[in-house]
Amino acid sequence: MAAESLMDLSADYHLDLLATGVILLDAHLHIRELNLSAENLLEVSASRALGSPLEELLDESNEWYPLLHQALADNYPMVRRAIPLTTRMGQERTVDLTLSPIAGKVDSRCLLVELTMIDRLQAISRDESEWQAQATLKEIMKGVAHEVKNPLGGIRGAAQLLAGELGNPNLQEYTDIIISEVDRLRTLVDRMLGPKERLESEPTNIHEVTEHVRHLIEAEAKGGLSIERDYDPSLPDFLADAGQLTQAVLNLVRNAWQACGDGGLITLKTRVYRQFTVGGNQHKLVCALHISDNGPGVPDDLLPMLFLPMVTGNAKGTGLGLSIAQRIANQHGGLIQVHSTPGDTCFTLLLPMET
Ligand SMILES: Nc1ncnc2c1ncn2[C@@H]1O[C@H](COP(=O)(O)OP(=O)(O)OP(=O)(O)O)[C@@H](O)[C@H]1O
Ligand SMILES: [Mg+2]
Repeated sequence: MAAESLMDLSADYHLDLLATGVILLDAHLHIRELNLSAENLLEVSASRALGSPLEELLDESNEWYPLLHQALADNYPMVRRAIPLTTRMGQERTVDLTLSPIAGKVDSRCLLVELTMIDRLQAISRDESEWQAQATLKEIMKGVAHEVKNPLGGIRGAAQLLAGELGNPNLQEYTDIIISEVDRLRTLVDRMLGPKERLESEPTNIHEVTEHVRHLIEAEAKGGLSIERDYDPSLPDFLADAGQLTQAVLNLVRNAWQACGDGGLITLKTRVYRQFTVGGNQHKLVCALHISDNGPGVPDDLLPMLFLPMVTGNAKGTGLGLSIAQRIANQHGGLIQVHSTPGDTCFTLLLPMET
């Protein structure tokens, strides 16, 4: 294929819809063409990338860089699996790399580079199983909640009748305990069931949600906590249930605060991702809210089951905050992911922004 016809291909077949990053380099390894996935992968806009040497857009540490010269010199296609790639911004990725030298009409030779992000594929399949697990769990919880709540109603009613029949007021203390414990259990089961099923969707600005939560937590922390913001101001409003999102973000930020404690630092960062897959579905635009803290990190033994209800590493916690937040994200077609090392824990709330 002649290099020039790639541009025609790009127009006719929407290269931008591909999940694979495609870059066309000239003989001097300057970028002549790139699709949207390649822009996302390299974290650079087309206007900045076009005409620039690829070298300028990647970290020097990339060991596969000489392969480009070799593929051009040998005029022979080359495939390399699981190559580490580091962007200029320091993001580390793992990609499968395909290099195809092609003939250009004008200059001597061009190189077509295909980059398939495999850590992303692994993350997608993890997302999908997380999604499935949440759906199954919800069904089990519904069944258990029903079975527990019915007898609780009976116990409460009987305790009230008994209290009325008891002549001795000293004994009423016991019926009061029965009633208050039943009420505590009912509230717990309701929380385990999670947020209401129906969303009240309205155009929502994610920064209004995060600012509201920031004020709440700062007021609670009384100056003992720093919250930094790194917002993408171009992020448009999208349809969501603002009240539910506030609950989810509050649960995440409160956890971060509990983890890093007084003197800790929390960062709230928003970004837009294009052509991004969440829970197995590809979306045109996805809002990402990253909530990071510099606390000690999630204990290793909790990580695999972190989003299940009743999982807690905190003596006073109920272990419901994250499962509720995950459920709210799922109801919005989104997902919460976690990445945690000591000193750097990040929970990411991904929300598709359908228009
Ligand atoms: N940012 C974080 N850093 C370290 N550990 C965390 C973080 N967020 C959550 N965790 C761990 O995950 C556990 C579960 O969190 P989750 O919010 O579900 O429950 P909880 O905070 O214990 O109780 P609650 O129901 O009151 O929220 C926490 O107890 C804590 O051990
Ligand atoms: Mg919590």
